[in-house]
Amino acid sequence: MNPKVNLKEIQDLELRYYAHTFKRLPVVISQGEGMYLYDTSGKKYLDMFAGIAVNSLGHCHPKVIDTIKEQSQLLMHTSNWLYTLPQLELAKLLTEITGLKKVFLTNDGTEAVETAIKLVRKVTGKKEIIAMEGAFHGRTMGALSLTSGEKYRKPFGPLLPETRFVPFNDIDALRGAIGEKTAAVIVEPIQGESGVIIPDENYLSCVRELTLEKDVLFILDEIQTGFGRTGRLFAFEHSKIKPDILCLAKGIGSGFPIGATLFSCDDFEPGEHGGTFIGNPLACAVAKTVIETILKEKLVENSEKIGGYLLNNLRERNLKVRGRGLMIGIDVENGEKTVLDLIKRNVLTIYSKNTVRVLPPLIIEKKHADEFLKAVDSIDSLQ
Ligand SMILES: Cc1ncc(COP(=O)(O)O)c(C=O)c1O
Repeated sequence: MNPKVNLKEIQDLELRYYAHTFKRLPVVISQGEGMYLYDTSGKKYLDMFAGIAVNSLGHCHPKVIDTIKEQSQLLMHTSNWLYTLPQLELAKLLTEITGLKKVFLTNDGTEAVETAIKLVRKVTGKKEIIAMEGAFHGRTMGALSLTSGEKYRKPFGPLLPETRFVPFNDIDALRGAIGEKTAAVIVEPIQGESGVIIPDENYLSCVRELTLEKDVLFILDEIQTGFGRTGRLFAFEHSKIKPDILCLAKGIGSGFPIGATLFSCDDFEPGEHGGTFIGNPLACAVAKTVIETILKEKLVENSEKIGGYLLNNLRERNLKVRGRGLMIGIDVENGEKTVLDLIKRNVLTIYSKNTVRVLPPLIIEKKHADEFLKAVDSIDSLQ
């Protein structure tokens, strides 16, 4: 069924034909099922990073497959010249589960952030957006302007003017930075790409209070934390707040590309924003199925339960570990080496510098967590 391609062959193909943008792990994946991925020789891997917090229902979930089959036989695309029901059904569902008022759908996370940037400029008439040091919001020019870190930004300037960074988890620094020109503040509830950096318990509620007091919009980027990842459907629920604008993607499609920007502030006018593919009926039908399945199968509760089990067990091993739900970081001496060691034990994770990031599908069971812990126990750098 799947061509048997070896690692060297595929690396040669990449060198020859693909942009030199990715530093990949040395595994060629050809299929997946549930919690497992299989390479072209049939070797089985436990997937503990879910395509960077994307495959919320694991791989090839039957409900996702059925929805793709059914919807693709009906309609895949018409553009936004015409109405389609799946788009508006998904929009309604998203407003119900977030408590925000309206939705603009996108193809991915960075577009959800671009939408937020345009929306705050439009509704406030101001331009300055304050982001956090260590933030990752995407790689298109607007989102990149709010992403900190020379490695992402340096070759691509000039970026958007009137963007600035303050230390994450420092409410006084944010208070000092907000001024007359500030349109919005953008925050991740937990910084994912930076290595699972969790702010103080009351940080988000302080940001909410401060942005209300100063009359600036609060954009929350839940592209990585949303849809059950942290043991709540949305991470803002831990803090009992609501942002003005909420960016979503990753877990919403369980592997099908789609994102969303939710907002309770004023709206765009027709023609001010759009996109050929956005909100296409196939992506929307899949996202609706994914959300309904997460809710019906109590996968948010599972994220809290198995996430807690993993965290406790990793802590018992005296590892330097932090996390919420199924968003876990383990500090090690050398992130890349530990991830490569785990691959030798048939376990897939990713790393940010010297933090191994554990982001399994929300369908993970205790037996999978134990399988992961067994691999951890067999690795010298994790002792
Ligand atoms: C918090 C956050 N925002 C935005 C993005 C960008 O999303 P995408 O890669 O879908 O453009 C990411 C991706 O890792 C993310 O983690």
